[in-house]
Amino acid sequence: MCGIIGYIGKKEAQPILMEGLKRMEYRGYDSAGLAIIAQERGVFSLKKSGKLQNLSQELKAHVVQGTAGIGHIRWATHGVPNDINAHPHSDCKEEIFIIHNGIIENFSQLKQKLQKDKHQFVTATDTEVLAHLIESYYEKDTLLEDAVSQALKEVVGTYGIAVLSSREPQKIVAARLGSPLIVGIIAQGEYMVASDVTAILPQTREVVYLEEGEIVTVTRAGYSIKTLNNQAIDRKTSRVDWDAEQAEKKGFAHFMLKEIMEQPEVVQNGLRGRLVAEDGIAHLGGFNEQAKQWRKINRIILVACGTAAYAAQIGSYMIEEYAGVATVVEIGSEFRYRKPVLNDKTAVVIVSQSGETADSIAALREAKRHGVLTFSIVNVVGSTIAREVDSGMYIHAGPEIAVASTKAFMGMLNMLALFTLALGRQRHLSLVTGQRIAKELLALPEKIQQILEQNDQIKALAQKYFKYDHAFYLGRKYNFGTALEGALKLKEISYAHAEGYPAGDLKHGPLALIDERFFLLFIAPQDSVYEKNISNIQEVKARRGKVIALTTIGNKEIADLADDVLFIPKTLEMLTPMLAIVPLQLLAYHVAVLRQCDVDQPRNLAKSVTVE
Ligand code: AGP
Repeated sequence: MCGIIGYIGKKEAQPILMEGLKRMEYRGYDSAGLAIIAQERGVFSLKKSGKLQNLSQELKAHVVQGTAGIGHIRWATHGVPNDINAHPHSDCKEEIFIIHNGIIENFSQLKQKLQKDKHQFVTATDTEVLAHLIESYYEKDTLLEDAVSQALKEVVGTYGIAVLSSREPQKIVAARLGSPLIVGIIAQGEYMVASDVTAILPQTREVVYLEEGEIVTVTRAGYSIKTLNNQAIDRKTSRVDWDAEQAEKKGFAHFMLKEIMEQPEVVQNGLRGRLVAEDGIAHLGGFNEQAKQWRKINRIILVACGTAAYAAQIGSYMIEEYAGVATVVEIGSEFRYRKPVLNDKTAVVIVSQSGETADSIAALREAKRHGVLTFSIVNVVGSTIAREVDSGMYIHAGPEIAVASTKAFMGMLNMLALFTLALGRQRHLSLVTGQRIAKELLALPEKIQQILEQNDQIKALAQKYFKYDHAFYLGRKYNFGTALEGALKLKEISYAHAEGYPAGDLKHGPLALIDERFFLLFIAPQDSVYEKNISNIQEVKARRGKVIALTTIGNKEIADLADDVLFIPKTLEMLTPMLAIVPLQLLAYHVAVLRQCDVDQPRNLAKSVTVE
């Protein structure tokens, strides 16, 4: 998954492009490059492997003037991250410069065909094929946008691209299929294109979202959007309400810590204008548009990946217990390839922070092919999933920059609770129970804040456990999903091997692994399965495993059993994951810092996996 950006206007392009790339580093950061139309010198292009600062350093040796250009930050999919494979890529005559986010799945066949036509390739990337394919259509009297359209018709795969040419230096052409792309309107005669809003916020909040299969031609005279079949599109602009500084760290050492600390307001923002506490209902615009269809639904499939799948795991128990609708969770990459049984009483709900996860998008499109009702719970406004479902709800967690998801997970659970309320109150969920859930949801921000104030104690706990390379996170019922997510946090930022597991299943094999190399974290609030957790802890203590117990404030007995204890305030059982996850996020964060890992940009990962 990569970040692309383009600018055309009256200011120097280089600083604008570099600022935008900086804000997209979380999308991928193994190499970067730019191309600037430098009036008298044609196109200046420079690219460097490694982090963006390598490119910044290299640029210092050049004086580049130009008021139009494109920039790219890469997460490699084809071709190792090195200077030559970094974007932009060019054609044989080095007239065309292209940057790309996505995968050209048929690039080998296209490359063979182009090589037969004597095109010379210098990289191992799929993107370079696109440059030569455009060249093959770019006759001397052909417009760049027409050559790009013709080339894209031959492409199988996904792309968010921006293209410029030294032959038409007053123009940037951009297009999307399966990867996000927006146009930023700065002023008359001044425009940007980018993969996402954070890249353009310093310049403008006015944007236009491109839809699948659309191509935009941008000049200082304005922009025009068409389909690949040349049908003109008139798209209204949207206003982005995120402030640029929201995506800054606000003084925290890492985006991840800032985002953990933002969770109380994430819950508040998510509930605002939706929870009607006195009636014990949730007013969800998207859900209400399809209220009649939802009444007929007797099966829900929650589809998601990674952290979102673990939120969905917890949400599935909420929906079954309180709305009485059979609900299962499917991992996006599995759902899209197996043969799911879907009918008109099934609904597919996609849960996704970015709204651009390729596997989740593909699952959504598979569901739509079956004609089932689709719904989404997404954070990024205007993202592909959010625009392709029948209806949905936004998490309103604000930009989540750290690759390891925290506040978005919290927001997903918040939305799943509201969704459960809306669905349940359409069916048998009583006013009293609805009011109780609503009351507890409203009390959560303060309870989360109480836990955040334990940050120093949790940091001390991390100092005791950060050298362990093996861990099991164990929970039951609602906190089985919490165990999965807590373990994912630890492994993805500290690289310790942590496994989330249903506590009741430890004795069916994994118990054989336990010895002093492990710590085991039991999520054991005083709930309906508390006693079962206690017996699991006893099993483990007998095998010399170190035990950290997470339980409800005031629980004295567990202190005698566990080596260390974390406490959370009491709440409804279905909402305990929204409290229990907070100490686990902080524990993972502090362990990763102590292990000197790159907390915000862990190795091998990217914020949104828009490729398979
Ligand atoms: C979570 O910390 C990871 N970054 C990853 O598992 C992520 O949750 C997953 O890729 C799904 O992303 P999405 O929510 O944007 O669809």
